[in-house]
This record gives sequence, structure tokens and C-alpha cells, in this order.
Amino acid sequence: MENRLRRAYLEAMGIECWVPRRPDSNAPAGDDTSAVGPPQETPPAGMDADAGPPDWMDEVPPPTEEWTSVEMPEILPVAADTVATLDWLALEHRVSQCTACGLHAGRQNTVFGVGDRSAGVMVIGEAPGAEEDRQGEPFVGRAGQLLNAMLSAIGLQREQVYIANILKCRPPGNRDPRPEEALRCEPFLLRQVALVRPRVILAVGGVAAQNLLKSQETVGRMRGREFQFEGIPVVVSYHPAYLLRSPDQKAKAWQDLQRLVGILKA
Ligand code: URA
Repeated sequence: MENRLRRAYLEAMGIECWVPRRPDSNAPAGDDTSAVGPPQETPPAGMDADAGPPDWMDEVPPPTEEWTSVEMPEILPVAADTVATLDWLALEHRVSQCTACGLHAGRQNTVFGVGDRSAGVMVIGEAPGAEEDRQGEPFVGRAGQLLNAMLSAIGLQREQVYIANILKCRPPGNRDPRPEEALRCEPFLLRQVALVRPRVILAVGGVAAQNLLKSQETVGRMRGREFQFEGIPVVVSYHPAYLLRSPDQKAKAWQDLQRLVGILKA
């Protein structure tokens, strides 16, 4: 990828870009103030292409075949192929170090996932909220309490399922995850699903269902239908936060949970 494009791409993701220091022929000897700094849009003195190569370029050997064939490495913020081989410990560590999108800058904690790592049921939500960000655990706020009650209604304690989110970092102001954020985070969830290998996935809310199933449809249209993710049946239902606001929809969520139980019993 061309450097200029790569910089624009990283900047669009909220990742600060630094350009390598270039010698400034006007700077006094020993002046190191240009060692770091924001991107320089105007070429420093001596770097203006129209002005021809600056003196210090004379020291650079002429390009050879070997030289010109060297490719700039692609920047892969989350190397999906290596994530796919990580064990739990390494995966959780990788998530905790992740800076693949701009959300890392505002987080207090990454929110990896919680529960039984060999559970039959995996619940997938959207993204951490304020309380989850503070505690580093998914679904610990009011929506989490309702989720616990929903699980309990089908005879499952929170500790008996595995709970994770599409995003591992909190979007500011609880806004929806952006597509590029979900994409950067995807290898982590994929690996979690592969490690848990649940018998059924419960996707709660539109963001979870749409990202998991690569769909644009609303929850209302997806619930009640049969889907699979990586060969695992997916039950789509309403997000507990939505149910808190629209309790009249709880009956439909109950139907969804019954479907999930049916899959577990099959
Ligand atoms: N909502 C989610 O989707 N996930 C959480 O962890 C908390 C609230």
C-alpha cells in the first residue's frame, strides 16, 4: 500500500501518524526539535521534489534490483491468521494490547468475555457500555441483569454460558460500532467461538446479529429464522437493553429462548 494511502487510512481510523524526521537544512547543527512531530504536509527545505534531490541524498547508494524489489510491509492491525491459532491466555493478552482501531484510546479496560469456556450456549452482544468498560466484563449493567434473568428463566446461570461482544472496547457515548471497528475486532470473536465451540449462539440485538451473520436486516426480521455461524446454529433475539425500553417485546424474546432450548435438547 502506498504510504500516503496508508496514512490516510490509519488517520481515518483515529490512529495518529508520525512521519520520519527528515533533515532540515535550515536547522542549526544539533537541533533535534524536529525528531518527532505531526505529519509535515509541506516538504521541509531540501525535500521539495521540484527542487531536486537534497545534498544528504548523495549518501544514499543508487537503487539496485534487490533494493527496488523490497516491498513495504502491509500494516495488518490484527493479524487474523495468527489470532486464529492463539490459546485463551494468548488471545486475552492480545485483546488487552490491541490498538487496531481508535477505540483503544478511550478505553479503561478491554472487555474480553466471561463465563464457561466450554459452554453449550454462547451469548454475543454488541459492545461494552460504561459499566462494562469500568469493570472489564460484558453485560454487568442493567441490561446484564436482565440477561441474567432471561438465562435463569431457561435454567442457565450466567456462569454456565460464555458471554462476549462484537467489540472488545467501548464506543464513545454508547454509539453503535462502526463497520471498520467490527471488522478489526472480528478475528478475536471468531477465535473465541472456535475455542468455546458452543452448541448454539444467542445473538442479542441488531448489531450482534448483523455483524455475525453479515446481514443488513433488522432483528425483527431475523428472529424466528434459522441461521448458522461457522456451522453453529444462531438464535437471534432482542437486546436486553431494548427489552428494558420495550417490555412488551419480552414475550417474543421468550419465544426465542424457547427455540434456543429446543436446539439444545435436539
Ligand atoms: N450491551 C452489550 O451489547 N454488551 C455489553 O457487554 C453490555 C451492554
